[in-house]
Amino acid sequence: MAETILLTGGAGYIGSHTYLALREAGFDVLILDNFVNAKADVPARLERITGAPVAVLRGDVRDPDTLKAVFRDHRIDGVVHFAALKAVGESMDMPIDYMQTNIGGLLNLLKAMEEGGCRRLVFSSSATVYGDTRVQPIPEDHPRTATSPYAFTKLAGEQILEQLTADWAVGILRYFNPVGAHRSALIGEDPAGHPNNLVPYVAKVATGELEEIQVFGDDYDTPDGTGIRDYIHVEDLAQGHALSLRALIETGMGHTVNLGTGQGSTVLQVIEAYSAACGRALPYRIAPRRAGDVAVLTARPEQARDLLGFQATRTLDDMCRSSWAWVSGQIRNATD
Ligand code: NAD
Ligand code: WQD
Repeated sequence: MAETILLTGGAGYIGSHTYLALREAGFDVLILDNFVNAKADVPARLERITGAPVAVLRGDVRDPDTLKAVFRDHRIDGVVHFAALKAVGESMDMPIDYMQTNIGGLLNLLKAMEEGGCRRLVFSSSATVYGDTRVQPIPEDHPRTATSPYAFTKLAGEQILEQLTADWAVGILRYFNPVGAHRSALIGEDPAGHPNNLVPYVAKVATGELEEIQVFGDDYDTPDGTGIRDYIHVEDLAQGHALSLRALIETGMGHTVNLGTGQGSTVLQVIEAYSAACGRALPYRIAPRRAGDVAVLTARPEQARDLLGFQATRTLDDMCRSSWAWVSGQIRNATD
């Protein structure tokens, strides 16, 4: 019988892609989401892609009783915990809300799992736990530090999980920069308002919603002077979760791994790849550096390969093409 996996935050950007990867890997999946940062039609879109009903509970991880009821009413064999608030800048303005959702929500989940007898968890962590480092590419044993309330919640989450008893199997996945969209172009990243992150911003310039890209600094010590990041296709990232769960189930042992490609791209390379994808040279201008940015952030990806058999296969061009297919499809739907 297939294992049933609970996906908290499963209607969100990474969660919805992971839903599909887990179904493809043979898992049954139950989504729990309060839809604070997800569109109401995501489950229907997942149904269109899979051709099968999607099990969704509308609920909040800040409510312990909601989580306890999930484990009372369902046999859950493992959990992937995405539900969190994730904007670094916003976390500086509302640190308590970030801690309530990201740390309080995790504690509620762990208690409900303990009571429900489920001790397998995959946790969405982030390269943000490495802080402002010059060590590149970054290995998993690099010291951790919190440079924002958001980063603090991810670091605290990791440290809480490290205190659990040995009968728990926990996969800590540190994502680098997830971008792109599902090959169906039916789900993707859909930030409300002015995007903070590069690829969603570039996408809105490509659609004409925003006028030009601001490149935050061209005087870094990199080949073209702009910041380097390790962009990873969200479908590769989603696959990492299926492999992580499989490893937890088969070995009973936990792991902490970077999920990245190991390859860095500059801001100008991203703009160039996106311009090729959408068939138009996208306008940009050089702006001052953004506070808190580092020059380079790339993963050492070997541990995920060795422990999970994980290897990202999609290129920056694939990421930009899939993003463009998604956002341009959204515009076509809106004008139909
Ligand atoms: P997202 O905002 O698209 O997804 C998060 C989901 O959680 C949303 O659907 C939201 O509605 C839900 N949610 C938020 N608060 C909730 C609550 N209290 N109860 C129930 N559901 C709640 O974000 P994402 O990019 O898919 O990120 C998923 C996870 O990955 C997060 O934990 C995030 O911190 C982590 N992460 C993301 C990135 C990134 O660049 N996107 C990088 C590293 C780590
Ligand atoms: C990428 C590059 C910018 C916007 C963030 C979080 C991190 C993680 C992933 C959750 C940088 C440059 C950006 C723009 C630009 N999230 N840039 N113009 O900062 O690497 O990581 O998302 O865990 O915690 O901090 O991603 O996409 O914002 O920036 O020039 O309009 O693009 O300076 O070099 P970042 P990003």
